[in-house]
This record gives sequence, C-alpha cells and structure tokens, in this order.
Amino acid sequence: MISKETIEQVLLRNDVETVIGGYVSLKRAGSNLKGLCPFHSEKTPSFTVYPQDNSFYCFGCGAGGDVINFIRKRENLDYPDAVEFLADRAGITIVRDERGSSYSPTPKFDRAKMFRMNADAAKYFHARLFDNTPKSAAALEYFTKSRGLSLAVIKHFGLGFAPDSFDEFSKYMTSKGYTYDELVAGFLVGRSDKGGYYDAFRNRVMFPIIDVSGNVIAFGGRVMDDSKPKYKNSSDTPVFKKSRNLFALNFARLSCAETMILCEGYMDVIAMHSAGFTNAVATLGTAITSEQARMMSRYTKKVIISYDADEAGQKAAMRAIGMLSEVGLDVTILKVPGAKDPDEYIKTYGADKFRSLLESSKTRFEYNSENILSRHDLNLPHDKIKALHEMEKLISETYSSAERDIYIRSTAKKFEVDPKSVKADVDRIIAKATSQYKKEAAGKMRQDAIGYSDRVNPDFIKAPAAAKNEEAVLGLLLLYPEHRKYVFEGDTLTPDDFFTSLGKRIFEYLKTAYSEGDDAHLGIGEVFSEDELGRITRMKISRMQLTENGREVLTSAIAALKKSVDKKASQKTNTYEGLNQLLMRKRGD
Ligand code: CTP
Ligand code: MN
Repeated sequence: MISKETIEQVLLRNDVETVIGGYVSLKRAGSNLKGLCPFHSEKTPSFTVYPQDNSFYCFGCGAGGDVINFIRKRENLDYPDAVEFLADRAGITIVRDERGSSYSPTPKFDRAKMFRMNADAAKYFHARLFDNTPKSAAALEYFTKSRGLSLAVIKHFGLGFAPDSFDEFSKYMTSKGYTYDELVAGFLVGRSDKGGYYDAFRNRVMFPIIDVSGNVIAFGGRVMDDSKPKYKNSSDTPVFKKSRNLFALNFARLSCAETMILCEGYMDVIAMHSAGFTNAVATLGTAITSEQARMMSRYTKKVIISYDADEAGQKAAMRAIGMLSEVGLDVTILKVPGAKDPDEYIKTYGADKFRSLLESSKTRFEYNSENILSRHDLNLPHDKIKALHEMEKLISETYSSAERDIYIRSTAKKFEVDPKSVKADVDRIIAKATSQYKKEAAGKMRQDAIGYSDRVNPDFIKAPAAAKNEEAVLGLLLLYPEHRKYVFEGDTLTPDDFFTSLGKRIFEYLKTAYSEGDDAHLGIGEVFSEDELGRITRMKISRMQLTENGREVLTSAIAALKKSVDKKASQKTNTYEGLNQLLMRKRGD
C-alpha cells in the first residue's frame, strides 16, 4: 500500500496538462484540451484532458482516469511504479520502509526556501523599477504614465521590472545561495537544450502572485508594447498551482466584503483596488476552476463577474456563472458600457460611476433577457413573437420551477399575453428537450448493446436504464464533496440501492473514503482496474458537461435510481436483457 499522503503529493505536483502534454500534443478547446489518443489509433482527436478535474478521457476508446492511470497505461507500469515514476518527475523522493510496504515522501525542494527564493526575486524585480537606467525608467513610466498607477499602488502590489538580460537575474540569485535546480523548478530560470541557463523573464513588467498566507508563489510578466506573447506566466511549480490560486485574494479576503469582484486581468484588479474596490480578484490566465470557485466561497457569499466587454469575455462570464453558482455563491454579471474592460472604464469614468455600475449588476436571467429585448423591437408583431419565443426558451433553461413561475409571470406581463400560454409554451419546450435527451440516451444504449456486451461493467446491459441512473448518481458523488456529505451523513443511499457490481463497489469505495476523511479520488487507482477507472471518469465528465448539478438534481437522480431498482426487481425480463441474450446466442457464446 502506498500512503495516502504520497499519492496526494504526487497528484498535487503532477498536473494532467503538463504530464500528458509531454506525450500528446494538446490543443485548447474551451476549458479543456484535446489531442490524438495515445491508446488507440485515430485521425480526429477524441482524447480530452480536463485540467479542472485533473483527469483525462478518450471518447473513442473509453480510456480515462487521473495522471497516475495515464502513466500506468502509457509507460506500462503497475500502480506503485507509476506513482514512483511521477514522484520522481516532480522531485519527490519516495522511501520504502523496512517492510517495503509503505512509502513516505521527502520533497526534494525545501518549500520554505522556495518561498524565500520567490520573495527575494520579487524584491529584486521591484528594486529594478527604480534603477537609474533608461530601461528601468521606461518600465516605471509604463506603470505610472501609460497605466496611471500611483507609486503607492506599485509598492502595495510589489510590481517590478525584469531587466533585458539573459543572466543578470540568475547571477544575483545564485550569489544569494539559490541553486540553478531551484531556480528552474521555480520557473524563474530556463534551461536550454544545450544545458545552459537563461533568465525566464526578460524586459517585462512584473506582477508577483501572492498566496493567502502572504507567500510570493509565482509571477506574471507583461511586455510594455504590443509584442507577443503579451504575458509570460509561471507554470506550475512545487509551490504554485495556477488553478488553485487567485490574484489579489491575499488582499481581497481582508476586505471583509459580502461581495467579491471577479476579473479577467491583473490590470483590472489593480485598477479596482486603487479605486477603492479592494475586494477584486482575478484568475491567473485561465478560465475559473471549481477549486477557485470553492476558495472564493470560503471568503464571500456573492460574486460579481466583471470580465472584458468583448464577446470572448462575455462568453467566459457565462461559463464562470455556472462554476460559481454550483458552489452555492450568488452570482451576477457586470457589463461595462463604453470601455473594453473594467480598467479602462474606471480610468475613463471614475470610481463613483463604477460603484453605481456594480449596483446594477445582473443575474443570469436578467442579463440574458435584456440581451433578448435589446435585439428586438416589441412594437413590430413579428419581432415581438420572436422575442417571446427566445424568452420562453430562456425560462425553460431555469431549473427551479418556482423561479420559472416568477419569470413566466413577469414575461407575460411585459409581452401583454396570458401567463397560462407562456407556461404552456415553456412546458412544451422542457418536454421536448427531455424526450430528445431520452431518445438520444436510448439510441446510445441500443448501439452499445448491439456493438458489444459491456466488458467493464457486465451488469450494465441487464438493465441499462437503471444502470444509467446509477451512473448519474455516482457521477454527482464523484464530482461534488457537498453531495457526498449529504448522502453519507444522511444515509440517503445504501449499497443495496445499486445493482451492478461495479456501481456497488464504487459506492462502497466512496463511502469508506468519506468516513476516513479522504478525497474521493485519493488511491482510487489502487482499488479499480485501468478500464474501470476509464468508466469512472466517464461518469464524472458526463455530469461535468451538464450545467445543473445541484441538490435538486441529486435528489431526483436518487429517486430515479431507487425507482429503477425496484422496477428491476419486479420485472422478470427486460428488453435489453432479451436483446443481449439473443446477441450472445447469435455470436455462439
Ligand atoms: N493572459 C495571459 N497570457 C496572454 C494574455 C492574457 O496569461 N497572452 C492572462 C493574464 O492573466 C491577463 C488576463 O489573461 O491578466 C487577461 O488578459 P487581457 O485582458 O489581455 O490582459 P490585461 O491584464 O487586462 O492587460 P491589459 O489591460 O494591459 O491589456
Ligand atoms: Mn484587459
């Protein structure tokens, strides 16, 4: 057995994106990455990496799991060797104890020293802003003149300047006692193919990233002109994970505001803080992850999303809404009129205007319905009908029926129609979407049944509808700690509610892990086979693709599961079982 701490460390320090990126050429697709599957031959990419879940899944061959399972399959190693392989990669030494049965990690890099190294680097970059050289003067001028920042703000955020040199910084840092290995691991220095070293940040203004304990953990560096890439950011290091930190959260958490403002860029956050909105944070160059959403929910109840005004920014805002609502935060969106981003808005119109703008931030429904109304002229009957249909579609996407009711009433009033007819339309749209979904699911199941009997979960085919319900419930449990708490503390389900043996085993595994206070994914690879892990990952990601995964969805999935299991018990035969037997006979098994 490998200790849970070892597995945790190994998973923490080997993010899927980087590890798998070393084997597969990955291209960004929304918040995920895609590439050609290394486990079966294909011409169009169906292999997907999910950075926010630290997992991968191939829609072509069903391979999936965490980074340990990837290495196990790819390097053909057994579980302990795959863990050791990854430990080695991340600079963790694993020591087997005398009995050879347990491992304990000793990190190769001294975390305290890594923090000191980053702090020294930040001080160095900050001091360079005030050197008496033309380049330093230009950098300082960029902050003060071009971006309108005061010296106090520059100091508060510890902004800096990385000189235009390949070795000035590393010479200084090695003279302070940091080794090249440490500097490379901290992403401050790069190593060339020929084995030489070079400073990672050159001729860029620097933004230190600070964790909630006040440690400098990473940097972002921006060019001062229009050259590309605009930003260079630290990759994940032994002390930094970009999906688990937020820029300026160290300050924002102290503002004790009921609300936090979520921005896209470092500069937006800095502009907000200097205008007095010290509750603003930003992600670190990626879409918001569920971990970041959970972090925010620890400090605040409400989030105002204030992204760039362009289409990309608004689309990202819609995705962020889902992520933040899922962890129970109240979320609204802000649209900045007449400016490309909040930074420019504050500069053009001032802090007071921005404050009143904040007060007018909109819920998802308000935001979308205003969009619809602005695109149509309600005085033209034809346009009015179109607008009403779009409104009805929007209402149908609201999960809570009470909320739908409120929107139905207000929409009916606005369009001067009978609320009953709006409700009838909305119900029809919901019914249609549901039957469409069911039809697709049934079609998929039939295909599965005809194509092959289920090797990974042989019981599946005996009652596919019930098995689907199992997968829905398990997917929700695997994804959300809140759901595990609800189900396991309330004894809402027992292993007997599951009838496929795989479903039962997953449920029992999760229940035990919960009672031992472990993360659901810790050590899961020791208990389940490679193929089973692929299936488990599919259960998770098929839930991730849905927008609503709250308590109501869970309870109705549980109800469906209990009902389907009862039905299974009371029915002697079932179509799929019959079909399967027929197929087996045909194949001569
Ligand atoms: N970003 C990045 N790499 C890029 C562009 C952007 O990592 N090539 C990240 C940075 O964290 C940046 C954020 O995405 O802060 C938002 O991007 P953008 O709006 O382009 O940058 P701003 O910080 O707003 O910069 P500016 O206003 O100076 O253009
Ligand atoms: Mn911007």
